[in-house]
Amino acid sequence: MADWLISAADYAFLAQWLRDQCALVLEPGKEYLLRNRLTPIIQRHQLADLKQLIERLRSLGAAELKREIVEAMVTTETSFFRDVRPFEMLRKAVIPDLIERRRGDRRLRIWCAASSSGQEPYSLAMLLREYFPELDNWNVTLLATDISEEMLKRCRAGRYSQLEVNRGLPTPLLLKWFRQDGGHWEINEQLRAAVTFSPLNLAGPWPPMGMWDIVLIRNVMIYFEPEVKRAILGRIARMLAKDGFLILGGTETTLNLDDSFRVVEALKAGFYQLKPPA
Ligand SMILES: C[S@@+](CC[C@H](N)C(=O)[O-])C[C@H]1O[C@@H](n2cnc3c(N)ncnc32)[C@H](O)[C@@H]1O
Repeated sequence: MADWLISAADYAFLAQWLRDQCALVLEPGKEYLLRNRLTPIIQRHQLADLKQLIERLRSLGAAELKREIVEAMVTTETSFFRDVRPFEMLRKAVIPDLIERRRGDRRLRIWCAASSSGQEPYSLAMLLREYFPELDNWNVTLLATDISEEMLKRCRAGRYSQLEVNRGLPTPLLLKWFRQDGGHWEINEQLRAAVTFSPLNLAGPWPPMGMWDIVLIRNVMIYFEPEVKRAILGRIARMLAKDGFLILGGTETTLNLDDSFRVVEALKAGFYQLKPPA
């Protein structure tokens, strides 16, 4: 079974299925990826081969199998304070600016879409606690969503290996906000409670979510087709406060996708705001 071949028809079916389920684009020539990621699922479900797996996918049921396949195919690479600069800009400019503007109603709403295993929302939670103690008395919402139930489970557990905390987390923050438990580090209860985790497929319907001051949607739209990116950016544009900020990953842009956004020149590092109405 390890050397199973993938016919062109099966490849096309799986590529379309992944598009429909989670907007993931499976480019041509990624047979090795399917093989690596689907073999353990085929074995776990005691299926004979890929053909049988596809038969199951075509059936109405098999929700668990379908969820496992999506989870296996998405890329969940992340790290604490990923790319550094966006977090510096948040600390030096964006959060202080929003604190001034929101002093009246003392409310701040941050949504981290595609949170993977939680390093991004917990980096934000640490940043707020460390540098903006006055927010302790504000109504702060920190929402983290992802399509992957497995990743959300990891977020809620807030438990990281030595390797994971070595990636981007400064030692003083590690020692202050994590408790060592054998070879792992567990996040402080206060920080865990500061973040709400919820499942959300960015390519599916979204529940009513209200308005947001900051939306981070980093390193996920790179895997989607332009039409899907357009639809997501259009929805975010309607949910972002007129003085709020959209933050994309280093290789992502709104350019040629949604002209309601402009780059914040003073910040760069993936920061966008809505253009003022013409
Ligand atoms: C590469 S990680 C990025 C994590 C984090 N934002 C960062 O920049 O480090 C991409 C995440 O997007 C999630 N994802 C993929 N497709 C998705 C979809 N259709 N809806 C919501 N999340 C999705 C994956 O489960 C994964 O956790």
